Amino acid sequence: VTILTLWAVVGYLLGSIPFGMVLAKFMGLGNLREIGSGNIGATNVLRTGNKTAAALTLVLDAAKGAVAVLIARMFAGEDAAQIAALAAMLGHCYPVWLGFRGGKGVATFLGIMLALSWQVGLACCLAWAIAVAVSRTSSIGAIAAAAASTFLLILLGYGQGFVLGVVLTLLIFWRHRANISRIRAGSEPKIGQKT
Ligand code: G3P
Repeated sequence: VTILTLWAVVGYLLGSIPFGMVLAKFMGLGNLREIGSGNIGATNVLRTGNKTAAALTLVLDAAKGAVAVLIARMFAGEDAAQIAALAAMLGHCYPVWLGFRGGKGVATFLGIMLALSWQVGLACCLAWAIAVAVSRTSSIGAIAAAAASTFLLILLGYGQGFVLGVVLTLLIFWRHRANISRIRAGSEPKIGQKT
């Protein structure tokens, strides 16, 4: 239990690094809270008009989730990897540094899935990409990838991650509740659209 607690703390600290916020600040793109949805993720960084910053946010937010899983697995095995995964998502969504007002977890989730099982991760990225290509809406990609993940975990051979998959999916849905209301109301912006 003590070892798992340690990996939960490591995962949380990694996940809580708000790369979007940091990049936007240092690249002079302004305060993400005052832009678009006010979110700290790559989708909202793209609304600043800076594609490089958005791509970097996506990669770094994914990488922190992947790194949390990979180092926990390397030092302490699969249970620690899953605890670190959950903790990294909670760190991203509820970072102590931002008064627990963090992001929606999509990039971090994709990084985590890639690290848990690259086949599942790749399939989740594909689900995201297809849903975004069809809908031109980032949040619809997020919801599709999250929903698909639980099935993909079982189908593609990481069934031991099923419970984690369900929990992360519920967390992503919860974090997208405002997006889901806008989708239902037909007012959710398309990807790249300013508001
Ligand atoms: O990853 C978050 C994305 O799915 C939605 O972001 O800024 O449109 O709320 P945003």
